[in-house]
Amino acid sequence: MNFNVTQLKISEIKSNLEVIIVINNDLNHTFIKDKKLLKKAGFKGGQDETCLLVSQDRLYVGASSLKSTDLRRASANAIKSLKSTSYHSIKVATYTNQGCPYSIRAMVEGFVLGAYYFEVYKSKQNKNKIKNITISLEEYNNHELEIEMVSSLVNKGKITADATNFTRNIVNTTPDDCYPKIMAKLSKSMAKENGLEYKVLKPKELRSEKMETLLAVARASRHKPRVIHLAHKPKNPKYVITLVGKGLTYDSGGLSLKPADYMVTMKSDKSGGSAVMGIMKAVSELNLPIEVHGFIGAVENMIGGDAYKPDDVLVAKNGKTIEIRNTDAEGRLVLADVLCYAQQEVKADYIFDFATLTGASVVAVGHYTSTIMGHNKEVKSMVVTQAQNSGELATALDFNDYLKKTINSPIADVCNISNTRYGGAITAGQFLSEFIEDENKEKWAHIDIAGPAFVEHAWGENPYGASGAGVRMMLRLLENLVSQAHSENNN
Ligand code: BES
Ligand code: ZN
Ligand code: ZN
Repeated sequence: MNFNVTQLKISEIKSNLEVIIVINNDLNHTFIKDKKLLKKAGFKGGQDETCLLVSQDRLYVGASSLKSTDLRRASANAIKSLKSTSYHSIKVATYTNQGCPYSIRAMVEGFVLGAYYFEVYKSKQNKNKIKNITISLEEYNNHELEIEMVSSLVNKGKITADATNFTRNIVNTTPDDCYPKIMAKLSKSMAKENGLEYKVLKPKELRSEKMETLLAVARASRHKPRVIHLAHKPKNPKYVITLVGKGLTYDSGGLSLKPADYMVTMKSDKSGGSAVMGIMKAVSELNLPIEVHGFIGAVENMIGGDAYKPDDVLVAKNGKTIEIRNTDAEGRLVLADVLCYAQQEVKADYIFDFATLTGASVVAVGHYTSTIMGHNKEVKSMVVTQAQNSGELATALDFNDYLKKTINSPIADVCNISNTRYGGAITAGQFLSEFIEDENKEKWAHIDIAGPAFVEHAWGENPYGASGAGVRMMLRLLENLVSQAHSENNN
């Protein structure tokens, strides 16, 4: 999908179709040219409501307000509604919240995210045909906009949404087509294309790095594990950031086997690792002046005579012993070793991990929201704020000493599950904290994306399937760190 920004008035632009956003049900605005027809069609302009007037080559879509979240959703739904039409170019005016051009970025993201369909496994593919979108600087409230500023935001929006779709593609790929070796292969080709450094650890190296808990989880699978390290290293970086992703290419639960209904969609247990891949891709395309390292633990959790067992005691890379009571709490075991490895390899200013870690996170806050944990209030609140600015939903959950005790083990340093069924997202986070070095505790946030990573009923700008959760929130956070560093330098 190509975007073009122009100073031409909307009426002067040649294209197949005009998209008009109706704000807050206001059908009297000068942008609305078909009031009678819209009334006839029963169109009221509610959020995400669409009305295609083929005779006029105009598509109307409703948005509750000029806020980015509303415009993003509206644009996504507009483009979605065009899927089976033959329109291939559209034009759209600009809509800003009191002249702030960020909403234009949101619209671009909405168009790219809304046009996404995963049809690799369909024998007949019905791709979205919209190829070109022309954005006019003619603004809803006649605000004057600078073309350079708008073009730069359009470019950022496109990179962000393309990276999100890249992540969606990996997550949506079936476990038979995407296993650890393939995640490494995809990372390698992306790294090559984008000028990222790439390193992979295979079982032999994993053994010599003493990543025995990760290896134990992987043992019963015919697909051997990989730990992938991607790096974006500009000169004079403002910050050093470490990202770690859970890349369970399939989670059957292992010997603590999941019930049939819960196993379906577990191809999405690689969402954290896939998000890290998408973020790394965008970081290099945006050429952010920060050093970013992405570590992905790619493993398949299966059953078999060689499987790790409840009752085993494993030794993690940092020497801590872990009593296994449930082999379905495997993500935290993989992350334990990868977090230790990441801290050994890179001294970072911030460490973020992304994981579809617990069903309890979904129970706590619903399917739409990621939960953010950690020891430092400011770091957690930075993630929540930037997630919300990016169009993702996130909320912080607090650790406490009482829940920490529930993962004590009578025979090992820690147990891989809690002795209570309540507060499972937090106890999983506190388990991970056991593998964060003291000097890094305040630099770390854990992001449980189990709720939004896989969408079973389309919502917002997400179709059925992988949402790419984590990508937009982290890119916005990183961009924000960069702009903060710039303003500190200028003061
Ligand atoms: N991958 C799952 C968590 C999950 C559940 C992700 C639903 C997405 C949707 C994780 O490995 C798991 O199975 N966790 C267990 C932990 C339990 C055994 C303590 C869970 O949440 O039930
Ligand atoms: Zn599991
Ligand atoms: Zn899992």
